[in-house]
Amino acid sequence: MNQHTRVDQAPIPFIDVGAQRRRLGTKIDEAVGRVLGHCQFLMGPEVFEFERMLAQFCGAKHALSCASGTDALLLVLMARGIGPGDAVICPSFTFCATAEVVALIGATPVFADVDAETFNVNARSIVRAIETAKREGLSPKALIPVDLFGLPADHDAIAAIAKEHGLFVLDDAAQGFGASYKGRKLGSIAHATATSFFPAKPLGCYGDGGAVLTDDDALLDVLKSLRVHGHGTDKYDNIRIGLTARLDTIQAAVLIEKLKIFPEEILARDRIARRYNEALGDIAIVPRVPDGYTSVWAQYTVRLKPGRRDGLANALKAEGIPTAIYYPKPLHRQQAYKHYPVADNGLPVSDRLADEVISLPMHAYLEEATQDRIVGAVHRALRA
Ligand SMILES: Cc1ncc(COP(=O)(O)O)c(C=O)c1O
Repeated sequence: MNQHTRVDQAPIPFIDVGAQRRRLGTKIDEAVGRVLGHCQFLMGPEVFEFERMLAQFCGAKHALSCASGTDALLLVLMARGIGPGDAVICPSFTFCATAEVVALIGATPVFADVDAETFNVNARSIVRAIETAKREGLSPKALIPVDLFGLPADHDAIAAIAKEHGLFVLDDAAQGFGASYKGRKLGSIAHATATSFFPAKPLGCYGDGGAVLTDDDALLDVLKSLRVHGHGTDKYDNIRIGLTARLDTIQAAVLIEKLKIFPEEILARDRIARRYNEALGDIAIVPRVPDGYTSVWAQYTVRLKPGRRDGLANALKAEGIPTAIYYPKPLHRQQAYKHYPVADNGLPVSDRLADEVISLPMHAYLEEATQDRIVGAVHRALRA
């Protein structure tokens, strides 16, 4: 093997968190240093400053930071008083947290199918999931659409169904925060929106973190109470059962710096996704962004003919290129969730996608030469 070959086969990170860290230089160290100086590790000034910036960024009236994306979803369902006997409709083709929070509060997740083109929940399947829930004697209370892989769900269609059936819409924008739908950013569309700052997310922190975005003043008051043990007028006045779900001040300080460069990073991600689409459109089914939508490309995910995926993953791995499968098993097939109802007794698109999807390295700092190396390897593997 000559030296050139070795350089070409150097491992590529799937998401290069270090590249962003290098770009931010000493800003993060200084921001963390300020927190270490004032020692207000919980609910310090950076938390409120970050919440203000986050709400402004997406055009929501309020942002409430919390300890994770899962807590963001959970807090909203708790605040709505959803519980046993209630149904919450959500897609099956998603990360488990979307349905986990429903089960945690004793309600029943009812799974809907997704669209093969967008990977997002299908409006007709939502209606059938509502019918399924009623047939099972459950009261449908809420919908949790997911903006999967960074692309907004069809929020107009979802809002129309929610209105007709009196349902609350909690958008799971853990992967999509920063994206927009018909000129509005996620966070300003649903009744409440949850997002995650897990380090690999488009806007990630250096640990766990999350936030709820909403315009609803009354909901915000309950969320604030639930975030800290259900407090009332002071912390030793407990008026409801709550959680310990605060965002650490150090994480807020990190996020303030990252949010400043997030708009530029979104543009970079979009440029990289378009280059992938151009280069791979003739050998794989590449993701399309519907008119009027933008994506933050939390994942760049293509579909392949059945049976091609393992060969591609292995060929890329041999060249130092990681891939990932989001998601190899839809939730309605998982041991923990398979006893919950599904629309129409079956979700064929979710099942099919689980066999066809594969995600390639994607982050705002993916250089063109590296991307070309990935594209070349994909072509070689799929043409073989
Ligand atoms: C769609 C979706 N929902 C919820 C979550 C949960 O977020 P967190 O890991 O911050 O709890 C994630 C992230 O991992 C996610 O991808």
